[in-house]
Amino acid sequence: MSELLKVRDLRLSFGDTEVVHGVDLDLPEGPFGLGVIGESGSGKTTIARALLRLHPVASGSVAFEGRDVLSMAGAALSAYRRDVQLVFQDGDGALDPRMSVRTAVAEPFAIHRTVPRGQRAARVADLLREVGLPDDVATRYPHQLSGGQRQRVVIARALALEPKLLVLDEPTSALDVTVQERVLQLIESLREKRSLAYVLISHNLAVVDRLCESSIVLYRGVVMERGQTNDLLTTPVHPYTQALRAAVPELGVVRPPLTRIATSTSVPESGCPYADRCALAVDVCRHEVPALRPLHGRDVACHQADEAADLTA
Ligand SMILES: Nc1ncnc2c1ncn2[C@@H]1O[C@H](COP(=O)(O)OP(=O)(O)OP(=O)(O)O)[C@@H](O)[C@H]1O
Ligand SMILES: [Mg+2]
Repeated sequence: MSELLKVRDLRLSFGDTEVVHGVDLDLPEGPFGLGVIGESGSGKTTIARALLRLHPVASGSVAFEGRDVLSMAGAALSAYRRDVQLVFQDGDGALDPRMSVRTAVAEPFAIHRTVPRGQRAARVADLLREVGLPDDVATRYPHQLSGGQRQRVVIARALALEPKLLVLDEPTSALDVTVQERVLQLIESLREKRSLAYVLISHNLAVVDRLCESSIVLYRGVVMERGQTNDLLTTPVHPYTQALRAAVPELGVVRPPLTRIATSTSVPESGCPYADRCALAVDVCRHEVPALRPLHGRDVACHQADEAADLTA
């Protein structure tokens, strides 16, 4: 398997505040899904934006097909911006209300001059069909569409330039359950048809389970656990992954959550960022940052990993 995206020790900040503290990502060529799981504020969207070069990278490296993304300029950057497309979490805000669907989906053709003007309407019709929208949607405006239809338009637009990698930031979180299901089916079918690789950001383990071979679990900008999604779900080792898992009873056995309410919202100066919520925390957890280490076929950053693993063994 050759590597499509390789991210090492990614650190991201807002002003003086670092919010992503050294994240690695590995993605082979598609079809392949990498899940990024974590609760609100854990840094998911900031990572997505940084991958697209929409957020400055404080330190670390990003390589796409072996090339250094962070130093790209000119034609190389423009090619990268064709190959990698972002689907935002908020389908509403992603579309210009004054642009018809046809204009919006054709806009990438115009920007990157990949399809001649005379052929754009036909290509848009193909794309709309591919994402399961009726032809007459092309002449409508975003406010005349349902949330699920809008998200399909956003996906059609992202596919217009035949990207190699999609970054999907909570692509279904704004949709109700049945519509969410149909959009997930769409991603599933596109993945095979187009050999897509994607980074799928979600706080929902069930969504990631369905669409991603491997996943990372983020907490406050730190990777707590990473490995095959199925392993993380069936035998989560990190107490935080266990808590996330317990919150999704529809995936099967419900385990008691090992979490407690945070006593403080600030990130501790030293030690494990999860320590103040962790029922297994001992002294060392508050003083020493746990490094990621291999355990039971995945990597986990937890001093108490052996004790925690026994709970799901
Ligand atoms: N414009 C901003 N200025 C300062 N801090 C920000 C800004 N945007 C986000 N942050 C902070 O950066 C951290 C990561 O935010 P981010 O939006 O990446 O989280 P997220 O995991 O995508 O959350 P959600 O699930 O709610 O979308 C948070 O602590 C957030 O408060
Ligand atoms: Mg977000």
